[in-house]
Amino acid sequence: MAKDRTRETCILRVACAALTLLSLALIVTLIVVTTKGKREALGDGTSSRQQDDCPEATKLSASPVRSAGLYDDLSKDEIIAVRDYILQQPSLNLTAYENAALNDNYIFLIELKQPPKDKALDFLDHENAPKPERTARVVIYNGGKKPSIVSEYLVSPAGNPIRHQEIRGPGQKYPIPFDMRALDGKEAEVTERIVSNAAKEANKLLRESYDGYTYDGCTDRCLTWSGSGPGEFGKRGKWIWFLRDLQGNYVQPVGFELYLNTQGSDSTLWKIEKVFYFNSSFDSVGDLMDAYTNGSIPKVFLPAPSYSSDSPLYSSLLRRGEPQPPIPLRPPRIVEPDGKRYTVSGRHVEYMKWSFDFRSRSSSGLQLFDIRFDGQRIVYELSLQEAAAFYSGWSPMQMQTDYLDTAWGMGSSKFELVRGTDCPDTATFFDTIHFVDAIDPVKYRNSICLFELDLGLPLRRHFDNNFQGGYNFYGGMPGSALVLRSISTAYNYDYIYDYLFYPNGVVEARASTTGYVQATLWTPNEASYGNPIHPWVAGTIHDHLLHYKVDLDISGRKHSYETIDIEIENITNPWFPQARRVQKVLRRNVKKTEQDAIYKQNFEHPKYLNFFNKGIVNKMGVSRGYRIHIRDMMKQMYPKDWGIVNGAAWTENQMTVTKWKENEETSSSIYNQNGMHDPVVDFARFTEDNEGIEDEDLVAWVTVGLMHVPHSEDIPNTATAANSASFYLRPYNYFDEDPSMSSHDALLILPNKGGADINRFGTPQEPGCRVKDKVLDFKGVYGTK
Ligand SMILES: *[C@@H]1O[C@H](CO)[C@@H](O)[C@H](O)[C@H]1NC(C)=O
Ligand SMILES: *[C@@H]1O[C@H](CO)[C@@H](O)[C@H](O)[C@H]1NC(C)=O
Ligand SMILES: *[C@@H]1O[C@H](CO)[C@@H](O)[C@H](O)[C@H]1NC(C)=O
Ligand SMILES: *[C@@H]1O[C@H](CO)[C@@H](O)[C@H](O)[C@H]1NC(C)=O
Repeated sequence: MAKDRTRETCILRVACAALTLLSLALIVTLIVVTTKGKREALGDGTSSRQQDDCPEATKLSASPVRSAGLYDDLSKDEIIAVRDYILQQPSLNLTAYENAALNDNYIFLIELKQPPKDKALDFLDHENAPKPERTARVVIYNGGKKPSIVSEYLVSPAGNPIRHQEIRGPGQKYPIPFDMRALDGKEAEVTERIVSNAAKEANKLLRESYDGYTYDGCTDRCLTWSGSGPGEFGKRGKWIWFLRDLQGNYVQPVGFELYLNTQGSDSTLWKIEKVFYFNSSFDSVGDLMDAYTNGSIPKVFLPAPSYSSDSPLYSSLLRRGEPQPPIPLRPPRIVEPDGKRYTVSGRHVEYMKWSFDFRSRSSSGLQLFDIRFDGQRIVYELSLQEAAAFYSGWSPMQMQTDYLDTAWGMGSSKFELVRGTDCPDTATFFDTIHFVDAIDPVKYRNSICLFELDLGLPLRRHFDNNFQGGYNFYGGMPGSALVLRSISTAYNYDYIYDYLFYPNGVVEARASTTGYVQATLWTPNEASYGNPIHPWVAGTIHDHLLHYKVDLDISGRKHSYETIDIEIENITNPWFPQARRVQKVLRRNVKKTEQDAIYKQNFEHPKYLNFFNKGIVNKMGVSRGYRIHIRDMMKQMYPKDWGIVNGAAWTENQMTVTKWKENEETSSSIYNQNGMHDPVVDFARFTEDNEGIEDEDLVAWVTVGLMHVPHSEDIPNTATAANSASFYLRPYNYFDEDPSMSSHDALLILPNKGGADINRFGTPQEPGCRVKDKVLDFKGVYGTK
């Protein structure tokens, strides 16, 4: 036996003796406590060695958390206190949500206003500094004002409010035009009335055209509707389209669409301005019905989809086809034999050398703060800002769909996650609370999860060949990462938002798309924009562009940004002076100003994008830096002067670097969707002043994305495989060596006569544990209780 082995055995013997005693005690306790706790034998009949359930808890202890409460979302009590305080302000002339109509003034949203960075850092970094006051941001829809506007207030302290102050910019348009507000329940109510009346008027046409499917007074063959955005430039309006109300209605379009003008707060003036039926359009439902009745347009017949228990509906998620595997067998799952390797205190997470805090905004979802490695801050804020999806098509609804999801509540549409499917069995779940378009705060159970992932890919490994049929050494480390996940389901699409923390100092922000595509009725006119994805159903081209804020604070707040340009040189070969040599060469290019730093990918000119702190160097004297590596780059193809691009100016390049400003908190807003031509938050303004960015507090704004031309395999759902977009934050000369070298997870194997010396650096191998069967406790409800 090798010497390492002998030592292992020796240690094991001592450990075994202790363990025997312990297990004896445990067995006694078990017998006393659990008389019913029968253990199952394994399926093959051989009785398994009795094992304990895998531990749920962690053996690690969390360090004291100074940030407690600094970034936490508002609690239920805080939201209620703020709501009641604001409702009582006579000057605001508010109506309680439950009694309000569109032409009253009422609260739309209450959420935490993130603490000012200066104050938050002062508090985090200085023992005696005061804790920033918890402040709420309140959005009020003033339909009762002339002219109608949207106003925003800061209310503090959130727990027991005594002050409020109107937000008047800078950083966003003031006042906020009423027509740029995000959709809410009051508007949906009015819309439903108008749509319902229109459908009633068109009832005969609907019933005859759609094989009995109608809206008004339907019983089994029912239609439903959905609405898109935005309207024509400068006008609040939307296309409403009808779908069969079946499982997966998003891919059950029938080709009947209405354009509804929803301008102003007097909804009696809202009206349908266009009606689209199959392939012709009219100015009113009355006109369409006349034409339909008098025979001047062809009557279309769209057969109802057929389905049965043997052959399920195409849009449903019932299993069909040849089973795979041939008999049901469970997929692999994650096991944590020693319990959790991360700790959680409130919304503060520690994992290996990583630590961070997180919250979930109602508008744009997860926001991570104070990301540190080994106690050193690397990122102050990492957060999603916006998700855009710009569609094309021939039918007017598909043609005029350009989504900015912040307006659709990317954060507040994060619903309950399913253990074992959305997140591994071992995940830790968190509830969130939102107050958007509601009477009371709403609790979303288990809407965020955190887990350690077995990557199934070694983080690193090397087999050192001795070229004599053997090896000199083998070293490796299994790959694992901590993942913070939430899934936003705004109607048809599900966006899975992940933040991954790797043991070698790499952070990844990844968005994966799944769910149903937004489909329209297939006519040959759609062929230029997409594919028939099922008979009569068209999926058309759209992009998914995502914008992230990365407020880097590497070794302090001040740093600089450089591109390391990879170029080609053609030189006299110094070693063979008669010859020339063509090779790659690096040119460092420190960016001086914001506009100088705008990054557009050019395949001919590859670059590294590096943030470093001048004068702070590693052991080799090289500036310690972190690099942004954009894996999935996407290009906005629309010209700048195409109206909608203003509302998402960040789609025009792959990365922007700005000098940090408190009032450049977000790159988009809940108002941009309905004001794309003249957005409330105009990202182009962030670089307009072209400030100097050398040795300053810098923020990187990163755009990633993917293009989606739906195809038949998007039925019934788009799959995540090959449909995600991500970027990395990765150390670039930041550490003196790979920081994962300190991990116990690694393995070093040395050859030994007739065997191998396996050094696991102290990580236990035995005993294993029994995977606990977990009941799937899914409720799927969100509410005020
Ligand atoms: C208060 O709001 C209501 C609408 O809810 C409006 O009719 C009324 O004129 C407003 N009162 C004042 C003094 O502005
Ligand atoms: C509309 O549909 C009718 C009937 O199928 C067809 O004859 C006509 O060419 C179509 N028009 C357009 C513009 O697609
Ligand atoms: C049928 O109705 C449409 C719409 O009102 C009208 O434009 C058209 O002239 C009518 N045609 C006939 C033949 O009456
Ligand atoms: C390198 O430079 C030499 C001298 O200018 C030129 O003749 C040669 O074509 C160049 N080679 C390449 C591959 O560009």
